[in-house]
Order: sequence, then structure tokens, then C-alpha cells
Amino acid sequence: MKPNAIAIIQGGRLAQRSNDTEYRFRQDSDFWYLTGFDHPDATAVIRNTENGPSFSLFVQPRDRAAEIWTGYRPGIEGAVEEYGADEAYESSQLLEALDEILEATDHLYHVFGRNSELDRKLLDVQETLRVQSRRGVEPAREILDPRSILHEMRLFKTPDEIEIMRQAADITREAHQEAATRLKAGRFEYEIEARLDYVFRRRGGWGPAYSSIVAGGANATVLHYVRNDQPLREDSLVLIDAGAELLGYASDVTRTYPVSKKYTGPSKEVYDVVLNAQKRAIQDARPGMTLADLHENTIQDLVNGMLEIGLMKGRADSIIESEAFRKYYMHGTSHWLGLDVHDSGRYTQGDGPRLLEAGMAFTIEPGLYIPINDEEAPEKFRGIGIRIEDNVVITEDASENLTAAIPKETADVEQWIQS
Ligand code: GLY
Ligand code: MN
Ligand code: MN
Repeated sequence: MKPNAIAIIQGGRLAQRSNDTEYRFRQDSDFWYLTGFDHPDATAVIRNTENGPSFSLFVQPRDRAAEIWTGYRPGIEGAVEEYGADEAYESSQLLEALDEILEATDHLYHVFGRNSELDRKLLDVQETLRVQSRRGVEPAREILDPRSILHEMRLFKTPDEIEIMRQAADITREAHQEAATRLKAGRFEYEIEARLDYVFRRRGGWGPAYSSIVAGGANATVLHYVRNDQPLREDSLVLIDAGAELLGYASDVTRTYPVSKKYTGPSKEVYDVVLNAQKRAIQDARPGMTLADLHENTIQDLVNGMLEIGLMKGRADSIIESEAFRKYYMHGTSHWLGLDVHDSGRYTQGDGPRLLEAGMAFTIEPGLYIPINDEEAPEKFRGIGIRIEDNVVITEDASENLTAAIPKETADVEQWIQS
């Protein structure tokens, strides 16, 4: 933060699920990253002053009647004793406190657009201070977005964060095993999803880090298929995109498994094309490369592979130039990964893609999806959807594949799910 500045960081609020019931609370990722405080309706005020930094929390107070319904609240005392705040107040005091807080600050960090009451109050205080400038007070000279700092911090994972992500990956490994060893024609996709959920929670995860995709057969060609309500069919594949959330950190893993426990025919041909591209991208991931480089190489490999197996016709360079490959590969190869499954952090640096550096975590997830009604594709390939997704973190001179223990070579997968 700049000198003589304050940041107002808002925590998450409960979201209505139906009538008077709410979704289980999930703290705002920025707020969680800074405070570790996992109760709703809190605000952190962080100051950088001549006397050094300070950290105040505005929280829901202890309330015996409310706690009978919704459980323990740390309250003002807990905010100081358990969460290390220098000072704590009730959330209801925040708006009033801003008059004083803003009086002595040059730079204000605040995210507009989330809480209209708070936004209006901040602008009112700014205006009042301007009008009162004769008494020696001044409004903040600039208002900045705290995410410009926070999201860069979050992009670079510390060793402790990477260790949590390794553990999340291990829960995900077990969940995929639990699911993949129970594939059987006639079972429903939701039965497999239930196995994933079971392991996520049994191992102490918060649950799935995003809506799990269990997509049998041609459902796998729908990129965000989450209905998971169809029966699995003999001799088809099932795409499982599911990862555990542990202490707020996401894992995000896709494997495409054979229902009949053996990869065969055209599905195996497409699978091998995706697998080769995915393995090369993982090999290439190291400091100095960019996600754009990985994506370009992946496209090259997928296009060459599609030509080899006869899924596309023509010349590789013109297919790439015209982007004709997008018919079968229409998404990016990578996204940052962390407290959000599509994590924060800029993808560019100046005019170009940013260089990979140690501590950055991201996915590598090429796929090919051939619509069932695609008349240009040879018939044998129609309705096949395959994605293979791992989670990688850049190290000083290479990268670590956090999800390498989840098999993806066809022989390894077959052995894993047959055993
Ligand atoms: N499951 C979301 C993604 O792979 O990006
Ligand atoms: Mn995914
Ligand atoms: Mn992903």
C-alpha cells in the first residue's frame, strides 16, 4: 500500500438459497487470504500510517440468541484474540466509523460495486471532507482498487499454500479412484458424483471446488455439463472434471475414463492425441515460458494429431491460421489456480503474455470435443469428448505436477480401475 493509506476489505455475506434458507457460507477469497476469518458480514480495515501498519476487524458481535441457531461467533473479543486484529468493532459501527477513519488518509483502497450502502457512505464522507477543508481536513486524494495488490500476491503461492494444494490434490486423487473404480454401464452419473462428494468431505475438504462434471458419452462434448443425471453406457467414455476444495484452495482435475474399463477404437485414438498434447505442455511448463506458449504448442499438437487420425483434413498451418481447430478445441489450455478455481492474477505483462515464475499455479487441460451431429467428422468420432487436466506449480527451474499421482496413461488407468 502507499504511505498514509487505508484499505477497506469486505468479507462475504450469506446468499439466499430459497425462502428463508441460505447457502452454506463460503468466505470471500481475498478476505479469507488476508484474515483467515470465516464468518459472514465482516470488514477489515487495514492502515498504513506513519506509526506503522494496523489491522481492524468489524464483525458480528456475540449474540446468545443468534448463536443458538447458527453457532459460535468470535465476536469483538475473538477478532482480537483469535484473529490478531489490533482493534475490533461491531459490523454495525462501520459506516459511522468511516467519518473518522477517512479524515486522515491520502489514499483509499476500496472495491466499489459490492455494497451500495458502503459505496455511498464513502463518497458522502469524501464530499463532506472536501467541503470542510478549511478546518484542515482533506478527502483522500485517490481511490484505488485493492485487488491490484492482492491479486498479484495471491498469484504467487507460498510453500505453505503449495502444501495445502498438494493435500487437496491427494484428496482429489482418492476421489477420482473411488469414482473411477465404480464405473459400470447402467449406473447413473449422479451415483459417481456422490462418490466424489463422499471422499471430498470424508477427507476433511470443504467439498467440491466447483460443480463436478460427470459426463457420460456425448455429454462430455458439453463443456460445463453439470446435470449428471444420465445412465452410463457400455463401451463409452465418461469425463470426470472434479476437484476438492481444502481450506479454500481448489484442485481442478479432469480424467476421461472408459466405462467398460478398457480404452478401445476411435475413443482411444482421440484420447492419445489429447494425452500427447497434455504431456508436452506439462514438460514445457517452467520459468520463462508463458501460458500463451503452452496454448500455442498444445494447438499445434492437437491439430497434428487430428490430421493423423483423420479427424480433420487439410494442412496444419492453414487449420491453425483459420482457427478451424476451434470446432473441436474451443477453450483455453490453462487458468491460474488457487483460492478461486479460476484464480486471480493478471495474464498479461505490458503488451504481451506474462512470463511464468516460481510459485505460480495453474491448470493444463487440453481436450477435444466432437459434437454428435457434426457431419464433417468421420462418423466413428462423433459424440466423443475428452479432456485431461492436471494442476502444475512453477518451481525455480521447472515445475511440479501436483496431480501426477492420478493415472492418465491408458494402460495405467485400465489397471487402476480394474483393480
Ligand atoms: N472445472 C473448471 C475448469 O476446468 O476450468
Ligand atoms: Mn476442470
Ligand atoms: Mn480447469
